[in-house]
Amino acid sequence: MKVSKFLSVLALLAVTVIQAGAQPRLSIFFDHVAEIARQERIAIQDAAQRVKQLGVDGIDVRVTMNEPQLRMLDSLGFQHASAIADINFVQGEQPEATRQALNFMSRYDYPRLLLIPGLLPENASEELMDKVCKRIDAFVKEAAEEGIDVMVEDYDNPRSPCYNTQTLDRLFAASPQLNHVFDTGNYLFCGEDVMAALQHFRSRIHHVHLKDRKAMNDRASLPIGAGIIPLKALVSELLQSGYEGWFCIEHFGAPSMMEYTRQSVANIKAAWKPSFDEVLRTRRSIRSYDASKKITEAEVRELMKAVQEAPSWANQQPTKYYVAITPEKLAAVQNMVGANKERIANAPVLIVSTFERGKSGFFRGQQSNEVGDGWGAHDNGLSDAYLVLKARAMGFDTLIMGMRDADKLRELFNIPESETIMAVIALGYRAVEPRQPMHKDLDKMVEFF
Ligand SMILES: Cc1cc2nc3c(=O)[nH]c(=O)nc-3n(C[C@H](O)[C@H](O)[C@H](O)COP(=O)(O)O)c2cc1C
Repeated sequence: MKVSKFLSVLALLAVTVIQAGAQPRLSIFFDHVAEIARQERIAIQDAAQRVKQLGVDGIDVRVTMNEPQLRMLDSLGFQHASAIADINFVQGEQPEATRQALNFMSRYDYPRLLLIPGLLPENASEELMDKVCKRIDAFVKEAAEEGIDVMVEDYDNPRSPCYNTQTLDRLFAASPQLNHVFDTGNYLFCGEDVMAALQHFRSRIHHVHLKDRKAMNDRASLPIGAGIIPLKALVSELLQSGYEGWFCIEHFGAPSMMEYTRQSVANIKAAWKPSFDEVLRTRRSIRSYDASKKITEAEVRELMKAVQEAPSWANQQPTKYYVAITPEKLAAVQNMVGANKERIANAPVLIVSTFERGKSGFFRGQQSNEVGDGWGAHDNGLSDAYLVLKARAMGFDTLIMGMRDADKLRELFNIPESETIMAVIALGYRAVEPRQPMHKDLDKMVEFF
């Protein structure tokens, strides 16, 4: 092989890590998980597992939390979204609480700390506010040396040093490294425009608390998306501006915490509507799936409705799908995809894609041109393309596999001999961010005349 050709092949094989799938990453307060366990009368671990199955991957804990519970959350695969520390910098410097919080962060590897700095007395003097700002800044600097990101939220109490835009501006001016937990419900509570606050603080927002309200001054708990916060606008604005942090679900005081969580997750997911270009950009072949996330038959049906829209020769619709969704069928198919087995081990759905021969490319039983049943394969590929793109638009991930054992699949699903078995497609949720292959130059793919 010529050196230049060898180099261009190498370039095609080279991979780069691409940006996250521009989907909201959901986290939840551990307090909410404990409340689910209490209300549903189940173990905390079971409550955590139920929440994880909804697609909530991150956890927000307090720095006073005990080690066995932290380890339990780790064992379920929860990622460390943030840790919360009450350190009363209004009262004084608090060296002990400061050290305890930082030790917790380093020991358990939580990179972001939400600081609740105490409440000011009524009519607090400027001098006291200055002192509080200085104490917070000293803490932020100490934490930064240990690689910990300190944040304050817009806190729903007028006596908080971080109550609204004005007080937050003052804190941020005094502490340039301090960042912001953007709490959507609390901006409503202090009577501010949430979207304007988002624009104002965008560069400092390192974490988000999604909280909804029925009305500006109403503190009643609501599922997120059921009240007046502009959920879609907030989520899209943050994601489009490159926010890659967590969206923490918050509804303290929910009468049914599990039901509220379910509704909140569904509403937040529905608020993520990727553009067509985002679907194309973030669809990648995924070779590691999240075992804790399931896909329902109803979701597969929704996906297939989009696939019905695919074009085909004379509308022959030669493609057929055989969907493995039960544990037994999944296990069987996993053993029929050769070296792909490990890659799709945790995918909750595996789909066999076939086409009926003698349909596309044929007229009254006669082959219409030299391509023959190649048109069936063509139409099958079109349908599969619709499938993988619609899957991405629904927040799922896929792997098309040409490495599979057609004979065994035919036997397992009773696939008639009149159908050609093409790919097996894994459907699930990505467990790792994919790498993107280099694409050949456009001019090598397209020629204009
Ligand atoms: C028809 C077909 C068969 C494929 N077979 C496999 C396979 O058996 N195993 C695998 O890991 N990837 C398989 N792939 C995925 C390709 O390697 C992948 O699409 C390509 O490298 C481009 O990467 P991307 O999908 O992330 O853009 C297949 C893709 C297609 C379209």
